[in-house]
Order: sequence, then C-alpha cells, then structure tokens
Amino acid sequence: MSNEIDALLQEHRSFPPSEEFRRNANANDESVYDVTDREAYWASWAEQLDWQTKWHTVLEWNAPYAKWFVGGKLNASANCLDRHLATRGDKQALIWEGEPGDVRTFTYRELYAEVSKFANVLKSLGVVLGDRVAIYMPLVPEAIVAMLACARIGAAHSVVFGGFSSEALRDRIQDAEAKVLITATAGYRRGNLVPLKKLADAAADDCPSIKHVVVVMRRAVAEELDDTVSMKPDRDCWYHELMRNASADCEPEWVDSEQMLYTLYTSGTTGKPKGIVHTTGGYLTEAYATCKWVFDLKEEDVYWCTADIGWVTGHSYVVYGPLAAGATVFVYEGAPDWPKQDRFWSLIEKHKVSIFYTAPTAIRAFMKWGHQLPAAHDLSSLRLLGSVGEPINPEAWMWYQKWIGGERCPIVDTWWQTETGSIMITPLPGIVDTKPGSATRAFPGIDAKILDEGGNEVKVGGGYLAITSPWPSMLRGIWRDPERFEQQYWAKWPGIYFTGDGAKRDEDGYFWLLGRVDDIINVAGHRIGTMEVESALVDHQAVAEAAVVGINHEIKGTAIAAFVIVKSSRAEEAKRDPAKFEKELKDHVTAKIGAIARPEKILITSDLPKTRSGKIMRRLLRDIAEGRALGDVTTLADPTVVASLKDKYEEES
Ligand code: PRX
Repeated sequence: MSNEIDALLQEHRSFPPSEEFRRNANANDESVYDVTDREAYWASWAEQLDWQTKWHTVLEWNAPYAKWFVGGKLNASANCLDRHLATRGDKQALIWEGEPGDVRTFTYRELYAEVSKFANVLKSLGVVLGDRVAIYMPLVPEAIVAMLACARIGAAHSVVFGGFSSEALRDRIQDAEAKVLITATAGYRRGNLVPLKKLADAAADDCPSIKHVVVVMRRAVAEELDDTVSMKPDRDCWYHELMRNASADCEPEWVDSEQMLYTLYTSGTTGKPKGIVHTTGGYLTEAYATCKWVFDLKEEDVYWCTADIGWVTGHSYVVYGPLAAGATVFVYEGAPDWPKQDRFWSLIEKHKVSIFYTAPTAIRAFMKWGHQLPAAHDLSSLRLLGSVGEPINPEAWMWYQKWIGGERCPIVDTWWQTETGSIMITPLPGIVDTKPGSATRAFPGIDAKILDEGGNEVKVGGGYLAITSPWPSMLRGIWRDPERFEQQYWAKWPGIYFTGDGAKRDEDGYFWLLGRVDDIINVAGHRIGTMEVESALVDHQAVAEAAVVGINHEIKGTAIAAFVIVKSSRAEEAKRDPAKFEKELKDHVTAKIGAIARPEKILITSDLPKTRSGKIMRRLLRDIAEGRALGDVTTLADPTVVASLKDKYEEES
C-alpha cells in the first residue's frame, strides 16, 4: 500500500468546475457542507419524498442498530412512479436498448401501469408483505418492473446477478427462503444467449421455498437463436400470460419506514456470501439525495448508469435514486464491445445521454481500445461523468476527462459499498475542485474519517476508512445473521462502522481510496471473497488445498491468482498436461460461482507458505505471484517453501 500512497502523493493536478456548471448546479454553495444538525438535515431530504404518514422520530440509534424516520409510512414504488404522474406522466422514465439493437421505452405512466399489473400478478401468486422474491434476469425492462412491483406490495427482492452460476443462485434463494423466482428465457451477451431459465431450473429444483417461477420471454431480432425452454407445470408461468389479464390498478402497500426493501448478497471474508439488508425510508431518502446533488439530475437529463441490477449500483443508481428523482433513465442490456468496441459511444450519441456513470475497469478497457473510437462519435450531449466500484488510477481519470468528457464535464469519483446503500465520498460537481484519483470529500451529512488501529483519527495520512455516525441508507443487518453483522462491521471500534477499505487523507482533507484491507478482492469492480474461490477450488476432486490472492491487472484492476496443492492421485496428470488441468480448475470455479470469479492464473504447488500459527501468508503469495522480491520469511514454518514457489513462478511466467 505504501507504493500506492507514494504514487498518489505525486498527484497535484486539480480541476475546478467551470463557472457555467457551478452556476447551474443543484448544489453550488460551499455552505451545503455545514451540517450542524444531522437529523434535521436528513429530515429535510426525506421531506422531499411522499409519505403516507410522517415519522415521529428521525433517528433511533442503538449502535449498531439504526432506525430512520421512525413511525413514517411510505412506499418506494409510489415514490418512483405515482408521485410523478401529475407532472411527468408523459415523460420517458426508461429508454431501453437490447444488445441486438431492439429499443423499448416507457413513460412514467406506462411504467406505473406495468409495475401495478405485475404487483397484482405477484399477489395472485401468493406473495405478501415481508416475503422474499428472487430475481435472476438479464438487464431488460421487466427486471426493473419486477423490483418495483415487489416494493409496491411490500415484498423484499433479492436480485441475483445473471452472471452467477446456478449454484450461487440456489444458495442465495435458500438463504433468503424466496417464495417466487423471476427469470427470463435468456439474455444477450456478446451475441450469444445466456440460458438463464435452464440455470434457474437447476437452482429452483433444489429450493423447496420456491412456489412459482415467472419467466419473461426474451425475444429479439435473432429469432433463429434457440431460446426455447421447458416449463414445469404448476410451478412455472409465463410473464406475458400472467400480465395479459392483470389489472393495472394496484394500491401501493404503505409500509413502515424500516420495512425491508431488499436483500442483496455480497462477498465477505468467509466462504458464504451475506445478505445485506436495506430498508425503505432511509435508503430511498439518501439514494434520492445523492442523485440530486452528485449527479446534479435535472428535468431534461438522460441519465445512464452502466451497472447491472445484480449489483447495488444497479439498485440505487439505475432504479431507486433516479426514478425517485423523476429522471429519464437509459438502460443497455449487453456488452460494451458488441458488435463493435464503440457500442457505448454510439449509444450515447443515439440516445443523447447527458450523464454517464461507469466503472474504472470499463474505462481502462476503452483506453486500450483507443480514443479514436469515442472521437468518431458526437458525445456533445454529455455534461457529467461518474466513476464507481474501485479506485480510478489518475491516468484513466485523465483519459476519461479528455476523450469522453471533452475536457468539459466534471468527473464524480464516488466511493461507497453495498452496505452503505448510497454514495458516501464524492465530489459535488458544482462545488468541489477534483483531483484525478481522489474521491475527494464526504457527502454532506456523512461522517467519514481515517482511523488508526486504535480508533484515533488520522487527519493527514493513511489508515482505515471509517464512518463514525449513522446514515439513513446504512445496512440494517445481514439477513438472519446478527452476529456476523456485529462482528464484521462494528467490532473493531464500538459504535463505528469499519468499511474494510484503506484510505489516505491529504492536506486539503481529500480522501484517496487505496483498496481493501481484508480478504476481499475487487475484480473489475466486483467483490469476490478469497474464501469463496478457495472453497470452489477445494470442491474439485483433484484439489487438496488452495490459497487465492489478488494480483494487479491492467484492465480489471485486480485479478485472481490461485495457488493450488494437487492431491497425489492426480499429481501426475496435472504435471503431464498442466494447461488442460488448469483450465479444468478454472472451469470448475466458473461453474461453482460464475465467470466473474474465474482465476486469471493457477499456480500448482507442493506446499503453501504459512505462519507458525498456520495462517496462509497471502501478502507473500501476492509478492510471489507478481514476481516481486520476497519479504521477511522468518515466520514461515518452512522458509524453503517460499523459495520453491518463487522459482516455480519464475519458471512459468
Ligand atoms: O473497496 C471499495 C470499492 O468497492 C468496495 C465496495 O464494493 P461493492 O459493495 O461491491 O460496491 C461497489 C459499488 C458501490 C469498496 O469497499 N470501491 C467502490 N467505489 C470505489 C471503491 N474504491 C475506490 N474508489 C471508489 N470510487
């Protein structure tokens, strides 16, 4: 980490917002940072939403358990749809383009009708307040409809990214005990159809809690592609058939502010993903507030966040935040390089996107593909750019600013997590001078600090990023695992939220994020637990032991390297054809978790470096995998292990 700090310390460039941007920005006065009464401040944001019953208490804080807007009743879907009907009924809520080029649009009125109908469908399938509904979908409008329909009737959704394996889906459904699973025949990815229904079947067959599977027919231009599926009588139903007779009249369920809106599984430091729980009032308030100020959303904007709804970014900044703010949201189903590497730029040009929010891993890929591609398109509709998911290196930041933003658009580098629910550290684009690679300042009303191991604040310098006061969209727990919730986030310093990230603060008080300090790897902006990948590898019958580390990667930021000890019965075979063997292991991880967890590199070894207490020395493995000099090895049970690993690595690379 010290190398990274040194590199970032060299970064002195600073970019103020243009006078014009500042003048027109939703937040353009430094005084917004003077939050003296945090509860009154957040209440003033909450007041901008529609409440059926107003709260009596803004915050009840019994660390680590928070309740926001206690006594208030509202509905998230009513806030995203119904309240816009009078003024924005005919405004586009959603402009969607599928990978094959099919386009569908929904006005607020149309989306409201679709959501109301599907809410009635869910009711007819027996879904009631408090039930969980799993969503395993491509990025099609029905996925968003499904989320909002759950919210409308007070059911919690659990969206599982469509790139996850059926096993990963099964585990998540079983943990949440979901009653209904919503999926699609397939989704498009690089011209191929991903057979989601087939994968969903493999999962649902093992999930007794699932009473019904609703299937969206993903038909596109490529009719010749095989998207036929088998339907299980009594359990499976077609979305379009259920919708045909559904009424578009569905009164929203007015739920308590603290009613669970959704659970979303994310990787932690054990092998088992955790279901992060978000509730309604506080979550929606902060998702809305950050959309207004960070993305500076205006009535005429066309806003595009490239995240999939399988991730928290898709929840807060594709669905809830921008729709609560009445924005026009653009959504694209497929890959950025299909059919060509300029797809994103042609989409921005075609749909006149004005706000574009993506991840550094994508920006690094665009850089590699060349600036000629965006330069050949008219990107003049853009006025604001965003970045999320991992640290953005200053080089990528500068490229983004120049070639996509035309040196005209402010960049908001937004730090936050599945657990925080909303953006926490970010520039406000009309106020803050940005520095390439820095997420700059805490959002007004957020108490972010750098602490040392003992919990003392580090004013200038490096340490752990912590949040020292409760915030409205904070996680309310881990689904059915309070112990893990308390242990994971609140045990390091009582009453203070531990983010798991290392960070540094400079003389101007700006935050520079330095990556995870725990056993989580951020691969292309997606969180993967080292233990999850290790469990998947050890599950293979040829593997005796495995250790996984993150290594630097030009595009992904971090990639996975796995050290594997092969069982003696298979050792010969592994030696005979290592390439085939390694592929078999990589395929196994893909099948167990999903392609995002596929190791970049497999290193077969006869032993693993461990401390005397038996802990795998991951830092050393990282050094070995990246070919760096070995550090202090005196604590190793057997120092020769490391040397042989290093030799082996050098031989192979
Ligand atoms: O390490 C931080 C990194 O992503 C982690 C959160 O991952 P996840 O819960 O999947 O949510 C991703 C989208 C919000 C954080 O602990 N991270 C996220 N945004 C940034 C970041 N690291 C540096 N800079 C960011 N802007």
